[in-house]
Amino acid sequence: MRIDELRSKIEEDLADAKLNLQTLLELRAQYLGKKGPIQSLMLEMKDLPANEKPAFGQKVNSFKELASTLFDQKKTELEKKATEEKLKKESVDISLPGKVWNVGSEHILSKVIEEVEDLFISMGYEVKDGPEIETDEYNFQLLNIPKNHPARAMQDTFYVNVERLLRTQTSTAQAHTMKEYGGHRDIRIICPGKAYRRDADDCTHSHQFAQIEGLVLTHDCTMADLKGTLEMMARKLFGEDREIRLRPSYFPFTEPSIEVDVSCFKCHGKGCSLCKNTGWIEILGAGMVNNNVLSMCGYDPKEYQGFAFGVGVERIAMLKYGIDDIRSFYLNDLRLLKQFKE
Ligand code: PHE
Repeated sequence: MRIDELRSKIEEDLADAKLNLQTLLELRAQYLGKKGPIQSLMLEMKDLPANEKPAFGQKVNSFKELASTLFDQKKTELEKKATEEKLKKESVDISLPGKVWNVGSEHILSKVIEEVEDLFISMGYEVKDGPEIETDEYNFQLLNIPKNHPARAMQDTFYVNVERLLRTQTSTAQAHTMKEYGGHRDIRIICPGKAYRRDADDCTHSHQFAQIEGLVLTHDCTMADLKGTLEMMARKLFGEDREIRLRPSYFPFTEPSIEVDVSCFKCHGKGCSLCKNTGWIEILGAGMVNNNVLSMCGYDPKEYQGFAFGVGVERIAMLKYGIDDIRSFYLNDLRLLKQFKE
């Protein structure tokens, strides 16, 4: 093939609309490669008379350069086209309305638990966890409630079998921690978690609920410490100007036992429907850890003393946020939950 013919053939091939970067590369190899027509033109040179060789050589070389430039130009053109197509495909129409993502919010019960945790961590307490399926021993016996003792009637229980049950209170954390600490270390813990009782569900009862247990054991912890601690908690939860009131009560695992009221944060003591006109609202049970519990769990009552308290998280949240049905916490009705989104 002669040079002019070859040139128009290349131009024709390069004008093919179906050409892409891959086929262009193949085409280039076909024309400019070692076995291509330009190379065979070069080989013809050896048969020419010596005086014609330089002129012919120059001609073929400059054609080779031209062909190479033609391929380069086409390559640039195809690359530009590919980039433009890609940009077009990836372009985002910013005038379209965006998608709205619904972000959930923290559940009110978690919020109350966190608030209490923050307070106690700041006072040097540890946060403990415990099993929800408990043994009779840890839920009752080690807490001074022997088998067949009438005090068991205070808490209707879901039994898994004769020895195992769903814990009826987070007070189980007391026995677990004392055993774990081996009778020789001070204890300052809170244990938030779920508890279960075989109650019929109504506005104020739920078969599953959350409690936060607190336990402090040292050589010299007194009821005054308990009072101060609970006062701080009540103020953190219900406002700085709250007062607390202690009333004598009974729990098998504490002696003396108390129930604790907080001054009504709605009427400030004047009397309203929330505090049933008494000016006070009951918030929790507490007391000094019973000596029997200390001994059974490996702490010498002559050396150690301390307090425990247990607070119902739903009760706190109901009071704090004006919710009148405990079941609302577990229905996950977005209309309720959304109100507490920060
Ligand atoms: N565990 C008791 C209850 O569930 C509350 C409590 C805890 C009382 C710790 C005294 C000390 O009713």
